[in-house]
Amino acid sequence: MADFTLRVNGSDRKVNVAPETPLLWVLRDTMELTGTKFGCGAGFCGACTVHVEGEAIRSCSTPVSQVAGKNVTTIEGLGANGLHVLQQAWIAEEVPQCGYCQTGQIMTAAALLAKTPKPNDEQITQAMNGNLCRCGTYERIRKAIRRASVTASGVAR
Ligand code: FES
Ligand code: FES
Repeated sequence: MADFTLRVNGSDRKVNVAPETPLLWVLRDTMELTGTKFGCGAGFCGACTVHVEGEAIRSCSTPVSQVAGKNVTTIEGLGANGLHVLQQAWIAEEVPQCGYCQTGQIMTAAALLAKTPKPNDEQITQAMNGNLCRCGTYERIRKAIRRASVTASGVAR
């Protein structure tokens, strides 16, 4: 066991866990931030996606020791000042079905929009490629990302 301090959703959080503990376990079990989901546990589905220093990463396959001292953002902290523009678009487009994959989808999309505020279809496909949805909500996800990009940029298209 070892002590680690992570800056999670803007607050320093100290944990005492084994260095190889996946970040996902620390978020869900130690910090009780259960918005981030466990899907495959092996880096294949994207359900566990969070941001580390603004990059979308798979928290199930990221040891906590790799993110010590770094800024981690989870779905709970995404819309710190109210709902994030993507969350608003998700509601407007009624995207979720069972909902299980949706945290990861939104976190991946948020990292995309942070770097590319007005992505084209190819950029959306490329960014979202690794996030699986067994309910097949892919088309609504794309519509919501397009809607959010318009809202964020204030430009109709
Ligand atoms: S749970 Fe992490 S990629 Fe599937
Ligand atoms: S909404 Fe059910 S897995 Fe995506």
